[in-house]
Amino acid sequence: MADNAKLIIEGTTYELPTLIGTEGEKAVDIRKLRGASGYVTLDSGYMNTGSCESAITFINGEEGILRYRGIPIEQLTEKSSFAEVSKLVLDGELPKSDVLDEFSRVLTENAMIPEELKNSLYNFPADAHPMSVLGSLIFGLAGFYPHVDATSSEDEIRTAATNLIAKTSTIAAFSYKRSIGEPFVYPSKDLGYSENFLNMMFSSPVNGYEIDSDMVEALEKLLILHVDHEQNCSASTMRLVGSSHANLYSAVAASIAALWGPLHGGANQSVMEMLATIHQSGKDPADFIEMAKDKSNSFRLAGFGHRVYKNYDPRARVIKGTCRKVLEKSAKDPLLQIAMQLEEQVLQDDYFIQRKLYPNVDFYSGILYKAMGIPTEMFTVLFAIGRMPGWISQWKEMISDPTNKIGRPRQIYNGNNKTDYTPVENR
Ligand code: ACO
Repeated sequence: MADNAKLIIEGTTYELPTLIGTEGEKAVDIRKLRGASGYVTLDSGYMNTGSCESAITFINGEEGILRYRGIPIEQLTEKSSFAEVSKLVLDGELPKSDVLDEFSRVLTENAMIPEELKNSLYNFPADAHPMSVLGSLIFGLAGFYPHVDATSSEDEIRTAATNLIAKTSTIAAFSYKRSIGEPFVYPSKDLGYSENFLNMMFSSPVNGYEIDSDMVEALEKLLILHVDHEQNCSASTMRLVGSSHANLYSAVAASIAALWGPLHGGANQSVMEMLATIHQSGKDPADFIEMAKDKSNSFRLAGFGHRVYKNYDPRARVIKGTCRKVLEKSAKDPLLQIAMQLEEQVLQDDYFIQRKLYPNVDFYSGILYKAMGIPTEMFTVLFAIGRMPGWISQWKEMISDPTNKIGRPRQIYNGNNKTDYTPVENR
C-alpha cells in the first residue's frame, strides 16, 4: 500500500487514499474529493479514470499483454475453445469437464429464438444493417425475459447468460439469411458453437455446406480474442446501463449500439472499405500511406493504431498466423493481397514506427472474415458474438459489487449564467 496522495487546492491539503492492483496498476481514490473540497475531476474520454475495480481482464498496452482471469490469450487461443473461455470469464475459473460439457450442451439447446422474434425479421428492410437487426432483436428478447436484472438469482443470471450467448449467433445468421432472401437454417444439436454458426450462415436447402475445420478453428480463435477488453466503450455502456438496474437484455442491446460505432467495433468494416477504395483507385497502397501521414489530410489508415496498445496488439499477433494459414486457401482475393502489401510497408515506415502504430486486431479480423465468406456488414456482428460473454461478465461483476452505485458522472457547466426568458416578439 502506497502513502496517501496529497492534493493542495486553494491552500488546503486533501489526503486521498491510493490503491494498487494485483499487477501494480496505481490509482488515487477520489470518491470523497467533491464532498471534502467541492472539486470534481475533469477527464473527458475517461483517459485517466478508473471506473471500477475488476478481476476479469488485464491489459498492459505498453507491453502488449492481454489476459482473461490471469491466463494469456496466446494460451487460450491455442488450447481452449470459445465455450470454455466464456465460462472462464463468466465464472472466474476454468470449468471442470462436466461443467464445460453441460455448458456446451445448453448453449446448443438454447440456440433457438422465439418464432415471433424470428418473424419480426421480416419487418426490417432486407438491406438493414445487421447490427441494427441484432441490437433490435436482443432488445426484443427483454420482452420475452422481462425479469432478469441486478436483483435476479444466480441461477436466473446463469440461464440468461447462456441464452444470450446461444441466441446471438442464431439472430446474426438469421439476419444474414433474411438479407439474401434465403430460408433460415436452424441450429443443430450435433454441431458445436462455431460450426453451428457457419452452418446457419452458409448452408441452404439446395447447397449443402461442408464445414471447413480450418475456418472453424479461425472463427473460434477470433471469438476468443474478442471475449473481453476491460472497460472499453461497450463494456462501460454495459455497466452504466446495468447500474440503473435495467433488464440484462436491454443493457446488452445498449452495448451493441456502442460497439457499432466506427471508432470501436466498426473498425474492421472500415478496414475492408479502405482496402476496396485502394483497389478501385488502381493506385499503389504506398499512396494511401503517404496520405495517412499528411497532416493536412484527415485520412487515417484503418486498422492501425490503438488507444491502449502502444506496442503490437497481442490479438493481432495471434490472429496474424491464422490469417496466413487461411489465406493460403483464398490468396487470390485482390483485397487480401493489398492488405498484405499495406502491412509490410507500414511496418517499415518511420512515421508509424515512431508513433508506435501497429496493425490492430481489426486489421486482420476483417481479412479473415472475408476469407470465410462473411460479408463486410456482418463483421461487427461477429465482434458482438465474441464480446457477449465479456459484457455479461462485466455486468455480473458490477451487480455483485456492494460499493456499486448508479453511474452518474458530474460535469463542469460552462453555459450562460442566469438569463431571463425573452418573449418571441422581442428576439
Ligand atoms: N493512421 C495515420 N496516423 C495515425 C493513425 C492511423 N491509423 N492512428 C494514429 N495516428 C497518428 C495521429 O495522427 C497522431 O499523430 P501526431 O502525433 O503526429 O498528431 C498519433 O498517431 C497519435 O494518434 P492519436 O489519435 O492521438 O491516438 P489515439 O490513441 O487517441 O487513437 C485510434 C487510437 C483511434 C485507434 C487511432 O489510432 C485510429 O484512428 N486508428 C484508425 C481506426 C482504427 O483502426 N480503430 C480500431 C481500434 S481497435 C478497436 O476498437 C477494437
